[in-house]
Amino acid sequence: MADATMFFPADFLWGTATSSHQVEGHNVNNDWWQWEQEEGHILDGGDSRVACDWWENAEADFDRAKEMGTNAHRMSLEWSRIEPEPGAFDSVAIERYREMLQGLHDREIEPMVTLHHFTNPLWLVEKGDFSTDLVVDYFQRYTDKVVAELGDLIPKWVTFNEPLVYVLARYLQHAFPAPETRGWLEGRRAIGNMLRSHAAAYHTIKESYPNALVGVAKHFRAIIPRKDGNWLDAWWAGRVARLFNDSWMESMASGRLRWPVGRGIIKDLAHTFDFVGINYYSRAHVRFPPRGNRLYEEQGPNGVMIDGDQPSGSYPGDLFTIIQSNMRHGKPIYITENGLPDATDNLRPAYILTHLRELWRAISFNYPIMGYYHWSLVDNFEWERGWTQRFGLIEMDPQTQERRWRSSGRLFSEICKSNSVSSDMARRYAPQLLETMFPGKTPVKNVD
Ligand code: BGC
Repeated sequence: MADATMFFPADFLWGTATSSHQVEGHNVNNDWWQWEQEEGHILDGGDSRVACDWWENAEADFDRAKEMGTNAHRMSLEWSRIEPEPGAFDSVAIERYREMLQGLHDREIEPMVTLHHFTNPLWLVEKGDFSTDLVVDYFQRYTDKVVAELGDLIPKWVTFNEPLVYVLARYLQHAFPAPETRGWLEGRRAIGNMLRSHAAAYHTIKESYPNALVGVAKHFRAIIPRKDGNWLDAWWAGRVARLFNDSWMESMASGRLRWPVGRGIIKDLAHTFDFVGINYYSRAHVRFPPRGNRLYEEQGPNGVMIDGDQPSGSYPGDLFTIIQSNMRHGKPIYITENGLPDATDNLRPAYILTHLRELWRAISFNYPIMGYYHWSLVDNFEWERGWTQRFGLIEMDPQTQERRWRSSGRLFSEICKSNSVSSDMARRYAPQLLETMFPGKTPVKNVD
């Protein structure tokens, strides 16, 4: 039987993505750990505890990533481990990260390393975290150390993970550990300081390693006015898209801060990214006026409810549109995160296939998509949603640490190993897609 096969470029990177606090365990020296200990902050009273035990044994999961056929992995460094007290570095922690990075290289898995993924050392929070201007020098000191000690093992860098998600959740929504003074003014100050920190880190890395690629993993969403909305909803959708999707990228491109995120020029910021990192999960719907302090709502008209009470609308075509709108930067594109919470794994195989089809479509438009990092390799600690959401290609029981491959893990493995997506995979893993994704019929052979 003929099979439709979408091949990906020969040097395509197939990876998974994680962050330190979500997988390492016992990150007792950061603001998230502290936040978890206070009642009512994490759904179902969860906390990160031993997480996926990576601090002790990441290598067992690296073996699984290797077995899966991936050739890339995105991980983050925990600032609070590397610099537990201001200016005092922990050589044992740095050595452990060297071991982990080397472990990935040994398995021919290329690391992409994030410097900041939502967590802050407690000492930094005491000083006012990103809303104090001092943070720029602190972040510089941390980056200097990481570049000096680990830079030879890091070909790709992400300075910040989802800077605007971080700022909104922390300064406006109170969903992340919140500083004492919060609100939009503080949030704006944090954005400015994160951009300054990013610029300094970019130049520090490039001075020592000119061939390293440096960027940001930016969360993008298609921002759609609510169903049956009016012109005000449509106008507001445009505003939110500018703020949420475009403002950060424009600042990194031009070196300028524009309303509503700030004003003026940031020295040495212009042209400080070598690639666009896209984190894509789902669509957002907006209404005007917004309700409470939420800029957008997740539920779309076809939204599906998966894991817990957080609805998520999956629209693979949005990924294509987001890629297209980022072509203006003229840079290579990596999908630095994409995935969904689905403990039952009923929907994940179709999610993967339909999103990868959009990626392949973009590649066939000659858009420079260089790699795809699925969130995530194993179930891990989902921030304020605790353990109520499961994103893993591999299931992980946080009580016993037992792992079990999900069907989507096996599918992803076939994709990585064959460097392709095919109708045969759809037939075996998500037959409901055949009619829509591969509607052509196999020609019937003439029989004499
Ligand atoms: C974050 C991850 C998180 C994932 C799924 C992304 O916004 O970068 O840390 O686990 O979403 O919720």
